[in-house]
Formats: sequence, structure tokens, C-alpha cells
Amino acid sequence: MSEAAASLYERVGGAQGVGKLTDKFYARVMADPELSHFFDQSKMDKLRLMQREFFSAALDGPVQYTGIPLPHAHAGREIGSRHFARFVEHLLDTLEDITLSDRDVRDIIERVKTYHDEIVGTVGDTG
Ligand code: HEM
Repeated sequence: MSEAAASLYERVGGAQGVGKLTDKFYARVMADPELSHFFDQSKMDKLRLMQREFFSAALDGPVQYTGIPLPHAHAGREIGSRHFARFVEHLLDTLEDITLSDRDVRDIIERVKTYHDEIVGTVGDTG
């Protein structure tokens, strides 16, 4: 079946779908008082663009991530596992708002979790 062969990127809705997804997702992150302060100094336009690229590439889309490597982008920010877990929780909530199979949602979350050690771990991890 051709649908089954489509990439996660296509199933999320291609460039437009991933764009909407990342915008909605970061709106949730910014509305979370435990996470928003990390972005106080950030230029959100550039960040949004980089995140779109990153998520597009991570979901097997025809996009090259041109941003800073994740460990560099997050080093020294004191992001802990607790923050990472909340971040993933917001992603899950966002994914549940769009039409995707449970399996696709699980797959996306599993992929994102594989980046844990590139984001967390620049400080003693207090959980
Ligand atoms: C799998 C999880 C994550 C992914 C895929 C991700 C992705 C990214 C990307 C692509 C950038 C842009 C890098 C660039 O400028 O070239 C970035 C920057 C950043 N991320 Fe993340 N991120 C993740 C988790 C987190 C978490 C949990 C936090 C904090 C709670 C966080 C905070 C930041 C901050 C503060 C920046 C820098 C923004 C700036 O340039 O000012 N990220 N992230």
C-alpha cells in the first residue's frame, strides 16, 4: 500500500504539516513556566526555522538540517531530564491534536527521545 510506504514526514503533512506541528508545539513549550525561561534570550524566528528543519529531517523528509549540532546548541543551558520529559510531553499533546495513527505518534516520540543525551547531560543530571 502506498500509504504505508510514505515517510512519517509525509504522513504528518509534508512541509506545511511539519511547519504547523512545530509552531503549535513551541507555543505549548513557551506557555510552560518550567521551560519558557530557557528561551528568554532566543531569536524565535531563527529557532522556529531550525526546529522545522530538524523535525523535517528527523521524520525522513527531503530536508537538510543546517543548524548548529544539537549538543552545541544545548550545551551549558542546564537542561535536565525533567525538562526534556516535559518537552516530550508537550510534543505528545501536540501530536494527539492531529490525525495520526497511534503507531506514528509512538514512532515520532521514540525518535525524539533518542536525542536525550545530546540535549541533557551537560550538567549533573538531577532528574
Ligand atoms: C529532542 C529534543 C530537542 C530538539 C530536537 C531540539 C532542537 C533544537 C534546535 C534544532 C535548535 C536550533 C539550533 C540552532 O540555532 O541552529 C535548538 C535550540 C535551542 N533549544 Fe532545543 N531541542 C530539543 C530540546 C530542548 C529542550 C528540552 C530545551 C529546554 C527546555 C531546549 C532549549 C533550546 C534552547 C534554549 C535553544 C537555543 C535557542 C537560541 O539560539 O537562542 N531544547 N533546539
